[in-house]
Amino acid sequence: MKKSVRKAIIAGNWKMNKTRPEAKELLEAIKPLVANAEGNVEVIACVPYTNLETAVNTVAGSNVKIGAENVHFEKSGAFTGEISADMLTEIGVEYVVIGHSERRQYFGETDETVNKRTKAALAAGLKPTVCVGELLWERETGITEEVIARQIKLDLYDVSAEDVKKTVIAYEPVWAIGTGKTATADQAEEACAFIRATLAKLYDDATAQAVTIQYGGSMNAANAAELLSKENVDGGLIGGASLKAADFNTIVQAAING
Ligand code: PGA
Repeated sequence: MKKSVRKAIIAGNWKMNKTRPEAKELLEAIKPLVANAEGNVEVIACVPYTNLETAVNTVAGSNVKIGAENVHFEKSGAFTGEISADMLTEIGVEYVVIGHSERRQYFGETDETVNKRTKAALAAGLKPTVCVGELLWERETGITEEVIARQIKLDLYDVSAEDVKKTVIAYEPVWAIGTGKTATADQAEEACAFIRATLAKLYDDATAQAVTIQYGGSMNAANAAELLSKENVDGGLIGGASLKAADFNTIVQAAING
């Protein structure tokens, strides 16, 4: 990570876990542990919709920020089961995960809808974390860079340079998510550097240098320091390990020291 030019961000992605009392308990445990990250590393918990209000109230006055795990692109209307960006900002939510591979795999999310959600989030003042990454067979057939470049171009279509600086990119190789199989630090660095080079082509070098690019996929207390030591890995999007306060904190501390 290069903290002199861009923000380091460690974000938990809780997925479909935790009731409200459990969410409060976990955040109460995390808060004091990560208090020393203030001004050095941004710490975020992305939680299920039902936990958002509880989470925002629980972290009030601390350096922990709250994110949602998805957002719809329309402002309101007949979209049963969906949540708008205004509904999130009204609660006090600041971040939102968009285009997670589980949304792409199981819920028909496409680059087109990822792009629409990203623009809607930015228009409402939310900071989107856009997830990209290749499937195992795409890596094995040698098209990782083509896949990532395509996702970046489509997902960020029509997003201004000013807005892309407010956007976080999470490189999450799908084969590493929830599998215990982490990309090596070199693989993560190679992909994150490629994403930055792609951003430099789409925008300009200064813009690309300012964007926080996270790695995600089985990042844990044991491997975080090595991954975060890489120049283009500016943080992590953490699934399983974000559900344990001590493990999540170890990752935050690795980022503080990185
Ligand atoms: P994992 O999930 O850390 O459990 O692999 C990462 C993610 O899906 O964001």
